[in-house]
Amino acid sequence: MIVDTPVATTSAAPAVDRTVLPVAVAGLGAYLPARTVDNEELTRRLDTSDTWIRTRTGIGRRHTAGPDEATSDLALAAARAALLDAGLDATELRALVVATCTPDHLLPATAPLVAAGLGTSIAAFDVNAACSGFVYGLRVAGALAATTDGPVLLIGAETLTRIVDPADRGTAILFGDGAAAVVLVAEEGAALGPFDLGSDGDDPSMLWAAATGTRYPPTPARLVAGEHFLTMRGSDVYRHAVLRMTASATAVLEAAGIAIEDVDLFIGHQANARILAGVAERLGLPQERSHVTIDRHGNTSAASIPLALADARDTGRLRDGDRVLVAAFGAGLTWGATLLTWRARP
Ligand code: UT7
Repeated sequence: MIVDTPVATTSAAPAVDRTVLPVAVAGLGAYLPARTVDNEELTRRLDTSDTWIRTRTGIGRRHTAGPDEATSDLALAAARAALLDAGLDATELRALVVATCTPDHLLPATAPLVAAGLGTSIAAFDVNAACSGFVYGLRVAGALAATTDGPVLLIGAETLTRIVDPADRGTAILFGDGAAAVVLVAEEGAALGPFDLGSDGDDPSMLWAAATGTRYPPTPARLVAGEHFLTMRGSDVYRHAVLRMTASATAVLEAAGIAIEDVDLFIGHQANARILAGVAERLGLPQERSHVTIDRHGNTSAASIPLALADARDTGRLRDGDRVLVAAFGAGLTWGATLLTWRARP
């Protein structure tokens, strides 16, 4: 029997959002930077081991952006791949949303840069819900797709390795870079939802990059002290992640009126293989129905779910009509889950 200690929060749990949007994924594309860093390479500069990393996280290697690559470059490559997959030209898009917590700049948003790269001037904006960004993005971009007369592009894109302290073995081993995009279209009979999205901002320091914004600006002294880097209380985040993703996925299944047996594939945020296994166990889902890419990608935050979705498609794990349950958890804290029905394209 699994006994979980409830997580402390002062906030009331939000009601599940029962909206089911008539929206389908009409195209899916991914981009991973060429360079990979395996655990062995990390052991040359950090007090860690391949065995520790594999047993505690499930990670074997991760991709890292080249020196000239920023988040918008990764996003643009993924966007082009998704448009090609959908057989669409960028001029046919109605809006573009980038889910990221590692934007090119604090200002402007990354999405307009990606739109410019595609040669379009459509509405373009970012969603920042950290590692839950893609699930939040599905709600926002899905609603746009359902209510406009054209496709909407949602991209999860991150360059986490730029904000991680390379000397911090607790985080430097975890994160990777990458991007993946979905073209969302309104389609009769398609189903995206219900949604369970939530947040708890009581203790942002559990996982944050402190000296990066207006609360605690990045002064020269703070930069020298490395206070602009991401820091995380790993075991606290771990506990919250398992409980929140399980609760969120359960709420979505209940709202959809389906059982875990009706789910063909579970794609959880790829933060740690043990977290994914813990969530699957609590949901009563056989491990083989949980798609895992963290061994090859590391934690790519808002890009992890669409990257895993692309990997599942490319490895033949998705069939027409499959019900895919996605769930995420991230800094904020934020969490979310939803269901999508996979439509195979000719
Ligand atoms: O994507 C957003 C959400 N993020 C997550 O969900 C991440 C959640 N957290 C985790 O995945 C895990 O907490 C970590 C993988 C970060 C850490 O694993 P853990 O099993 O929770 O380890 P811990 O933090 O409790 O540390 C255990 C020990 C410590 O040593 P002592 O104090 O017991 O001597 C750490 O210093 O492991 C040590 N340690 C390491 N040892 C070797 C921490 N990192 C490393 C390392 N190599 N890379």
